[in-house]
Parts: sequence; C-alpha cells; structure tokens
Amino acid sequence: TKSVTINTLYKLKASGEKFVVISLYDAHMAAMAQRCGVEVVLIGDSLGMTVLGYDSTIPVTMEQMIYHVEAVARGNKKSLIIGDLPFMTYGTPEDALRNCARIMQAGAQMVKLEGGTWLADTVRMLAERGVPVCAHLGLTPQSVNKFGGFRVQGRDADSAAKILADAKLLAEAGADLLVLECVPAALAAQITREISIPTIGIGAGKDTDAQVLVINDILGLTEQPPKFSKNFLLEANDIAGAMQKYVADVKAGVFPAEENTFF
Ligand code: KIV
Ligand code: NA
Repeated sequence: TKSVTINTLYKLKASGEKFVVISLYDAHMAAMAQRCGVEVVLIGDSLGMTVLGYDSTIPVTMEQMIYHVEAVARGNKKSLIIGDLPFMTYGTPEDALRNCARIMQAGAQMVKLEGGTWLADTVRMLAERGVPVCAHLGLTPQSVNKFGGFRVQGRDADSAAKILADAKLLAEAGADLLVLECVPAALAAQITREISIPTIGIGAGKDTDAQVLVINDILGLTEQPPKFSKNFLLEANDIAGAMQKYVADVKAGVFPAEENTFF
C-alpha cells in the first residue's frame, strides 16, 4: 500500500496536524508533490478548465480522467491518490459502481463524488464494496448551471443547515473524507467539529482538517484566479519552492488567510 493511507489522514486529524492536498494532472507534478510531502493528490475534473480550456467541468469524460489518473499514479508512489468522477458518470448506483471501479483500476485509492442526500445510498454501496469515497459539498462545480454561476454556498441559514445535514448523512453512509468548497468559514468549522471524518477545505476557511488547491492556481497560471487561491510562486524561486511554501503555510495554519476566506 501507499505510505499515506486513510489511516494516516485519520491520525493527522486526531493529532490536529493539517494535511495537504493538491489537485494536479501529470506525472512530473505528481512526483514533485511526493517530494514536497503532499499527503494527498487529487486528479480533479478541474482538468477540464485548466488543461483542456473548457468553461466548466461538465464536458470532462471518463476517458480523460483515466488518462490523467494513470499519469499521476506513475509519477507518485507515496501520496494517497483520489480521482474525480466526472459529470453524470455516477447518477445511478450502477453507473457509480462501474465507473468508480475504472478510476480505481487506473491507479486511484479513492474516488470523489459531488452531491448530498441523493448520493448517500451510492456512497453506502461503494463503501460496502471496498471503494473509499471522498464526498464534496458546497460549491459543487458540476452543478454550476443549477447554481447560476460559481457562487459561494451555505450563506443563509437554510442552505447552511442543509449542507451540515448532508455532511452528517454522507459520513454515516461511509464516506471517508469530505471536501467543502466555497462555504463560509464558520460553517466549515462547525461541520469539521460535528463529523468524525476529515474535512478538506477550498474557500472554506482555515479550520478544516486539510486544504486543497489546484496546481495551476498555486503556480499563478490562472488568468482570473479565485479569491480563495494563492500564487505561491511569487514567494518562491521555482515550482518546488512554491509547492513547499504551500505545504508549509497550510501546516502552520497561515494559509488560508482572511483574504482567501468567505464569511
Ligand atoms: O476538480 C478539482 O480540482 C476539485 C478540487 C478543487 C476540490 O474538485
Ligand atoms: Na472536481
């Protein structure tokens, strides 16, 4: 097995040490993340918007995800590898079981799925069949057209309560990790206190158990970078230095700062 497993992440949560996640897509970046001590690498379907130039993640296919999971897995033998399932490849439990198996066989040790209540049965079926699941709540980009844009979620009391309830339900169903994207910091902190599985924040404040950023944002490649991200290359001499700075700042609790946070 990998040197980082879900047990490692549970121990880090228990000890209060933050862990670090990077969404990246290729073997060299994956190898560098391993050298920089990044615990988890995610092959995000954000690859549709970064590598492939689409306006959203909706066009991403299973074949594209598999191609990139294989590349990352070749480059990194230590970090836990999570692969995203793209839009509408897990809409039914049957589709989820088949497509999660393909991502695992491509080299991931965990799959990530966007969604709340409706996904609980699927998560339970995957867990029972040996497939670790990272759930993803808040601004779930595959639902961008239902949200009417990339907007912060959980700002009013009703939607905050819904996200908290979904988080509890998915954890009870057997999810192993939970990504919280673009939610107020206080809500992410409350969820992190009230569920037993580790939370990974992006635009969710500093109190989640871990942070995730997209490599293209870390390296300042994004033309209009989101407020929650940071160009770490500005404070480093090279790409390894930028990754090391991101890791150090998450571990020290200085990233995300208030300017990267929604309230
Ligand atoms: O696709 C992605 O990179 C993601 C992370 C930003 C959480 O889902
Ligand atoms: Na994603």
